[in-house]
Amino acid sequence: MVIGKPLLTVEQIQKKVKELAAIISEDYEGKEILAVGILRGAFIFFSDLVRHIQVPMNIDFIIASSYIKIQTSGDIKIHADLREDIKAKHVLLIEDIVDSGLTLKYIQEMLLARNPASLRTCTFLDKKSRRKTELKLDYIGFEIPDFYIVGYGLDYDNKFRNLPYISVFKEST
Ligand code: PRP
Repeated sequence: MVIGKPLLTVEQIQKKVKELAAIISEDYEGKEILAVGILRGAFIFFSDLVRHIQVPMNIDFIIASSYIKIQTSGDIKIHADLREDIKAKHVLLIEDIVDSGLTLKYIQEMLLARNPASLRTCTFLDKKSRRKTELKLDYIGFEIPDFYIVGYGLDYDNKFRNLPYISVFKEST
């Protein structure tokens, strides 16, 4: 296993987080947000982002998975659902990365069926070239090329999530 140079440095990440939070704060002015983090990957981005958002909020989480090592299984599992009732609430989904889009599509449809007042999605990273489904994304940090990356919440086999920057990952041969 090889961890390369940072693709996104701590400074680039923190600057983008503040920019996204400023736009979100403006868009939701006068409203209350229910911020929903999609775990496990989003745990660091979620906690960075919410600390910079300037409107009142509640928080909740969904634990979902579909990846085995570096492959999506396409089979989305919800390990833990929300505790909050989202009916008539302004839900902001917060995700670390959108790749095939299958995880987010599944969760968006699941939540829309519960009649929130609104549903928007913020993803830190967008690997758009890998998309397998049409998807609405409202806030995007960085669009990135098709490299397998780790750090800032993203993993390989549940490792490297704690790196404070994002790095390209290669399996050594
Ligand atoms: C990762 C990531 C997203 C999803 C994106 O989660 O956090 O939720 O994959 O991939 P997709 O767009 O192809 O569906 P993963 O299933 O690896 O679980 P994790 O959050 O516990 O790492």
